[in-house]
Amino acid sequence: MNILVAGTGYVGTTTALVLAEMGWNVTGLDVDQNKIRLLQQGSIPFYEEGLEVLLKKHLQSGRIHFTSNTDEAIKDNDVIFLCVGTPSRSDGSADLQYVKQLAEEIGHNMDSYKLIVNKSTVPVGTQIKVTDWIRTAQLYPHPFDVASNPEFLREGKALTDALYPDRVIIGADSPQAASILKELYQTMNCPFVITTPNTAELIKYAANAFLATKISYINELAILCDELGVNVGEVAHGIGLDPRIGLSFLQAGIGYGGSCFPKDVSALLRISNVHGIPLSILEQTESVNQTQYLYLITKARERLREFDGKKIALLGLSFKPGTDDIREAASIRIARRLLAELAHIRVHDPVAKLPPELLHDSVTFCSTPEEAVEDVDAVFICTEWAMYQSIDWERMKESMNQANLFDGRNLLDAKRMKALGYYYQGIGNS
Ligand code: UDX
Repeated sequence: MNILVAGTGYVGTTTALVLAEMGWNVTGLDVDQNKIRLLQQGSIPFYEEGLEVLLKKHLQSGRIHFTSNTDEAIKDNDVIFLCVGTPSRSDGSADLQYVKQLAEEIGHNMDSYKLIVNKSTVPVGTQIKVTDWIRTAQLYPHPFDVASNPEFLREGKALTDALYPDRVIIGADSPQAASILKELYQTMNCPFVITTPNTAELIKYAANAFLATKISYINELAILCDELGVNVGEVAHGIGLDPRIGLSFLQAGIGYGGSCFPKDVSALLRISNVHGIPLSILEQTESVNQTQYLYLITKARERLREFDGKKIALLGLSFKPGTDDIREAASIRIARRLLAELAHIRVHDPVAKLPPELLHDSVTFCSTPEEAVEDVDAVFICTEWAMYQSIDWERMKESMNQANLFDGRNLLDAKRMKALGYYYQGIGNS
């Protein structure tokens, strides 16, 4: 079986490499020739641990290669994974233009049976649309199937998640499609859920929306914890030991970000609105997330009285550790707010770079956290990079103008920081 993975973003590149690791011959396809050139040379176009080693290994084993020739790639492969982007439109719905374009190219170039497998996160009903788009574009009515096989990998842990998934979801309405996918994933030692394409598509949204809801729940509860003098981490531990609740995704902070949760929550809300079935809990999940960062801003404003003329260090830009991705990162919201209130910002992140909107006279990018905190009136921790835990905070204090710490990820030990003489404010642990 020859496999084509169309789209070499996070999901596509990881999927292609994991399939090669499982022993399949894989072609990665992208219209972006620069990306293809980089991949052909053994470089990953984004930061994700472990992928480059695997890429080099399989370029050498010959099990993976990359191309931007769509027509040939479609003809040469039996199974085609769709891993192209589905960005949000302004109304929150998922923009399927790249999926449609690819489906039409597949239809046009089909010369034998193909199984098209959708891994991109798409609205319920997309499998039916993709089937129609392919059929309409076909020059000859070759048989084909379209299946849904959502991906649950996390940035920063992409390789482990994709190699050792908790479950494989296969949404297929033909036994042939389901059996090809089962054969493809035969080495995976986890439960397989074989279901309809619509169900598989909804499972992906429902999973991300549920996790986002857990986060917004603990985030809102954390603010009450501060008021009650209760530690939210202990509450999370105490409730999370109940296996019906679980310990994960109860880490309170300044809100979730990234390329999935915000987009998927808003897409699911859009789907629910279109069908006239409100998902009111999810509406609150989104609304809590949009304002969560303001809690820390408000606390800092109370402490500093105003931000005008103050120097603030932001430690961490990426939406979470282990990635250089800054999409929907809480750090950017905080920076935007501080700049609007005329603060000067000194930013550090070990891998992420300043986005164009922060290339600003009042923003300085620093190469170390020590440099970032020089002469500042407050430090905001926006991403829980482990390196910020091992900083010599005692020494850092000496170079700060005022020792104010606003820990947006509850990364540091509040008691210890206070003992070192810091004014410390976290999210529900103060
Ligand atoms: C997520 C899903 O986990 C993954 O299954 C899906 O395929 C893609 O979306 P990802 O966006 O890479 O993965 O990151 P994840 O680790 O889930 O974190 C998302 C956001 O939630 C981050 O901003 C993180 O900081 C935040 N988060 C996570 C919390 O604020 N608290 C938590 O307890 C967990």
